[in-house]
Parts: sequence; C-alpha cells; structure tokens
Amino acid sequence: MEFSHPLQIGGLALPHRAVFGPMAGFTDAPCRELMAAHGAGFTVSEMVSAKALTYGDRKTAALVKAAPNGALYGVQLFGAEPEDFARAARRLLDEGFAFDFFDINMGCPAPKIVGHGPGGAGSRLMLTPELCGRITAAVVGQAGAKPVTVKMRKGWDEQHVTAVECAKACEAAGAAAIAVHARTREQMYTPGTVDLAVIGAVKQAVSIPVLGNGDVTSPETALAMVRATGCDGVMIARAALGDPWLFERVNAALEGAPAPAEPNLQARMNALRRQVTEMVEQKGEYVAMPQARAQAMHYMRGLRGAAALRRECCTLQYLTDLDRLIEKVFDEQRRAADPDDARAVPFP
Ligand SMILES: Cc1cc2nc3c(=O)[nH]c(=O)nc-3n(C[C@H](O)[C@H](O)[C@H](O)COP(=O)(O)O)c2cc1C
Repeated sequence: MEFSHPLQIGGLALPHRAVFGPMAGFTDAPCRELMAAHGAGFTVSEMVSAKALTYGDRKTAALVKAAPNGALYGVQLFGAEPEDFARAARRLLDEGFAFDFFDINMGCPAPKIVGHGPGGAGSRLMLTPELCGRITAAVVGQAGAKPVTVKMRKGWDEQHVTAVECAKACEAAGAAAIAVHARTREQMYTPGTVDLAVIGAVKQAVSIPVLGNGDVTSPETALAMVRATGCDGVMIARAALGDPWLFERVNAALEGAPAPAEPNLQARMNALRRQVTEMVEQKGEYVAMPQARAQAMHYMRGLRGAAALRRECCTLQYLTDLDRLIEKVFDEQRRAADPDDARAVPFP
C-alpha cells in the first residue's frame, strides 16, 4: 500500500492521487466530467490566455466554463507577464466562474506559446526562475482562499534544467503544489525521455505536494514513478483519453485496493457516445464533431481493425455518424472472433 490518506493541496482534499492533466483541444467539460466520474483526483481546464481573458474574450471564457460535477477543478492560465495573470485571476473571481483552484502553465512547448508576449510563455518562463516566482505571486495575490498550483517541465533544455529552482521560487511565492512533466522543452513529447530523477529532486527541494507527470500509462508505471521519486501523486494526460478507467486502476494501485474489473466493449462505446453527445449539446455539432474525431480515435485503441476504424473516426461529421462508427466497432470485433458471422449488430 502506498497511500492511506487524502492528498491536501491548500484547503482542498483530493479524493484520489491520480489527477487528470490539462490538454488543449481535449480537456473540455465533457472530457473532464468523464475523468472525474472515474476517479481523477482533480481535472484542469485547457490552457487559456491570461491576456485574452482580461480583454473579455468570449471564446476564452467559454473554455473555462464548467458544469458543476462534484469534482475538483482548476483553471489553467498561460501568459508572459505577472500583471496579465493578476488581471485574469481577478476577472475569473469577479465574474463568478465555478472552479476550485488556479493552475499556471510553465510547461507548454508549442512555438506559438513560447514566443508569446515580450519574453515568451509556457516552458519559456523556466529560463527565468525569478519570473516564475513573480507570476505565481501575482496569482496568489488575487486568489484568496483558492490554491494556486504550477505545472512545469524539467527545464528548457539539458543546459537549462531549472525545475528545482523554478519550483522553489513558486513555493516561496505561495504555490500550493507543483506538477512536474519530467521532460525538457527541447524533448517535447519524445518517448523514453522522462527523467524520474528530476521529479525526485523537486520533491526533495520543496515541502508542498509534488505531482509526477510523463508517460504514466498503467498502475505499474504510476507505482514505479511514486517509488522512484517520492512524489505525492501522479498526473496522467494522454493515456486517459479513451480510457477513463485508467484512473480507477491507478488509484486502486496507489491506495492498495484490489484491481477493478476491466470495462467491456459496450461500456467503452457507451462512454464514447455519452462524451460526444455532451460535446454536441454544449458546443453544437459544427464545433463539436471535428473535436470528437480525435476523442473517438483514442477509444479505438486495442480494438481489432483499429486502423480502419480510426480512418472512420476522421469522417465523423454528425452525431448520427458516431452511431454508424459504433455499429462498425461491434461488427469488426464480432467478425474478428467469427469470420462467418454475418448478423447485423444492433446498437446499443
Ligand atoms: C494535445 C496535448 C495538449 C496539451 N495541452 C496542455 C495544456 O494546455 N496545458 C498543460 O499544462 N499541458 C498540456 N499538455 C501536456 C500534458 O498535460 C502532459 O504534461 C504531457 O502530455 C505528459 O503527460 P502524459 O505522458 O501523461 O500525456 C498537453 C499535451 C498534449 C498531448
């Protein structure tokens, strides 16, 4: 058994220690709700521009809107200047957005983000640990009782491994927890480059909770990260897409509980349909369906005929197309088990 008590982040007690990492383009409200329902200790919005929020941009505001679902929820801000962060935090509070904590993006590697504003945003901030501290202080100064967390990388590149310095600056400025994606900006998402030692070094350097992040895909990889680094919990992003049950499996391992039952195909397809239906309800078919293509692809993982099914995902245009896709999924799986079986498959 690894953990027997909830993780405390400021005034928030997390129900579980596997949390869902933010992903722009993916972690919208229906996706977060699904992960929360399967035990994500918290969920985070897609990153939103602090500057755009202060200008009252409606699209940006829509990204952080949350239907209350009982799970802890953080809004992630990116930006380059402390003043923008302070104003954005103030606006979120003044306009009564429903959320539990602020999160600051110090990890995004995308060229558009690292080139944002005068000195760059996302992982670029890590080249200046003192600025990381000032940005954290700017949000903490507005946040009142809401905790402020920071999500960072190992550093900019191997010559600038600044996670420890940045984490210390953020802690001194009042951060309540740090999540460390254990790759440099230069490493982007390169497989096999996660450096557990840097998570361990940050854990040693600060006394606030540290969440380890990068390539956690199973109970085994989660336990290995916790054991190697002493981190207080794990943040899972990509591997949970199409597999929200991963949170149940990882939480059980971290809490020393028996492994839960695997979902059957029907449960997986029901989750997909519910997720996409909610996306369509909230954003309309025109906006939701292109986004649903990428979400649906993840549900095809491990299925027979996955390559052809993924191609089918790319064609989703209307919600009714999703029903056809799901019928095909059942059909493919049944035919793979018995090539002579030509029954029509009803759905659901
Ligand atoms: C498509 C995509 C979008 C992402 N968007 C964000 C983001 O908005 N904010 C952020 O802090 N990290 C973002 N990340 C990084 C993830 O939160 C996470 O740190 C990274 O994927 C490593 O964790 P994983 O191996 O569990 O996926 C994104 C990653 C991906 C793949």
